[in-house]
Amino acid sequence: MTDRVVRTRYPLTLFRESHADGADIIMLRRMPLMMTPTFRTATRVLSAPVSQAFDGASAEAYETIFESLAPAWKKHADIISNYAGSDGDISILDIGAGPGEPSCTIAAALPKAKITCTDVSEDMISKAKTRAENKGVQLSLGVCPGEDLSQFPDASFDYITMNFSLMFVPDREKCLDECVRVLKPGGKVLSMCWKTNAFMAAIGKATAEFTGEPPGVPPPVNPMALKAENAQEDLAKGAGLEVMLAEEMNVPILAKNEAIFRACSLIVMGPKLQAMEAEGRVGATKEFQDLFVQLAPSVPGITIDQGAYAFNGMAQVCVMGKP
Ligand SMILES: C[S@@+](CC[C@H](N)C(=O)[O-])C[C@H]1O[C@@H](n2cnc3c(N)ncnc32)[C@H](O)[C@@H]1O
Repeated sequence: MTDRVVRTRYPLTLFRESHADGADIIMLRRMPLMMTPTFRTATRVLSAPVSQAFDGASAEAYETIFESLAPAWKKHADIISNYAGSDGDISILDIGAGPGEPSCTIAAALPKAKITCTDVSEDMISKAKTRAENKGVQLSLGVCPGEDLSQFPDASFDYITMNFSLMFVPDREKCLDECVRVLKPGGKVLSMCWKTNAFMAAIGKATAEFTGEPPGVPPPVNPMALKAENAQEDLAKGAGLEVMLAEEMNVPILAKNEAIFRACSLIVMGPKLQAMEAEGRVGATKEFQDLFVQLAPSVPGITIDQGAYAFNGMAQVCVMGKP
């Protein structure tokens, strides 16, 4: 059953079908189209169960590499402190906070800030709750898709943070339109996304070899969706936001052992490999992971030291201001 129809700004309509097996099928159509079985199968392989991509095992795998991102969380806290002062009495909405960041880091740095920590995944919000308790910080927590902030009134936040999450939101234009609505005048969106990432370069290399597809076909869950030059800036301008800062920084990621490295490959490739297995390529998941491990040492930007894998990555933080 199609449960949702979202009008995009373009002469295309985005349809999302939620299925009993947990898959979300995302389709862009120019006009009504007969849903043939072939179209359904092809789309299932090519599209991610977007809303559940970070649930369950993916939430567990993500948590194992998550601490590497601390420099990015600190960057959000520093930028907001620079604007608001560290005892600023401000309200912040964190979208796609995963296991609770940058919410917890900002809460520790700005104790007077009121922070609403959200994610589309219930599993992630449960981890965020535990993290906030362990860190001794106060957050309001809730499940919320970035493209639908209807639970929040107009002009209710001073800042919105999205650390490595805007790229996963299916309708990014709608997400930023919603951000504009819930921001107070003069409010700001802070968004961090990947520009280069050696882990994803290894995924790309393994995928091309494994599937025979030409290099460059994006995985179903794509952390690099905003890697193009000016991708964030153009989205900001489209939403009527002023780009106040666009700065790149080095954010290396560490996977402490091979098991973690393998598990993390499934965050991005899991849906595609499961679909391949369902369609008859039994053992595809393990085969892909074996190839991924085998190719990793040849990928520039990956260093393997005593079984731990370190990946270089350049991220861009963008500050987008509401006039
Ligand atoms: C790479 S993680 C980033 C988590 C965290 N912000 C951090 O700094 O580590 C991406 C997060 O975006 C969330 N996400 C994916 N699609 C989303 C959507 N449509 N709306 C809100 N969050 C979403 C995922 O569940 C996941 O927790």
